[in-house]
Amino acid sequence: MTGMMMLMSRPGISAVAEDNRGRIVGYVLARIKNSTESDGAIHGHVGSISVLRSHRRQGIARKLLTLSLRVMAEKYKTSHVTLNVRKSNAGARALYEAIGFKSFVSRKPFYADGESAVGMIIAVDQIVREQLSRRYMLANP
Ligand SMILES: CC(C)(COP(=O)(O)OP(=O)(O)OC[C@H]1O[C@@H](n2cnc3c(N)ncnc32)[C@H](O)[C@@H]1OP(=O)(O)O)[C@@H](O)C(=O)NCCC(=O)NCCS
Repeated sequence: MTGMMMLMSRPGISAVAEDNRGRIVGYVLARIKNSTESDGAIHGHVGSISVLRSHRRQGIARKLLTLSLRVMAEKYKTSHVTLNVRKSNAGARALYEAIGFKSFVSRKPFYADGESAVGMIIAVDQIVREQLSRRYMLANP
């Protein structure tokens, strides 16, 4: 991945990865939920992430997601981030677990074909932010 272009809405939390010819090979789409929690916490949500089949297992999704989490925490003061993933999607679940997401709820059925989703959550607090920064040595967004 040689370049990462930020998308327009909530700059930095959604991003694409480009190859060295400028072709988009992966993306992450995330949002900050409008409503805040009753305790005032700000909630982020990862809606979609995908990497071109030919470019998988090169760490692209991990970088995209880590960057998004970091910007959500630092720029938008998000306390926690959620996502939903198909129960059968072992690869994506492994990715999220590797980053530190924990499963917290089973939503069934969730998808149009009747499959269940696993709801996952990560607390993006100071400690997590520092760990992410150290581990992946990301440049400041
Ligand atoms: C899930 C997806 C985004 C992962 O993208 P990726 O760039 O290949 O992931 P990374 O290379 O950053 O993987 C980081 C870590 O996640 C885990 N992981 C990722 N894909 C995995 C797989 N297929 N099987 C097992 N573990 C996997 C591994 O721990 C991996 O680290 P490692 O390669 O050092 O073992 C990609 O497979 C994809 O686009 N799938 C189709 C779309 C999709 O399912 N999106 C998620 C919907 S919720």
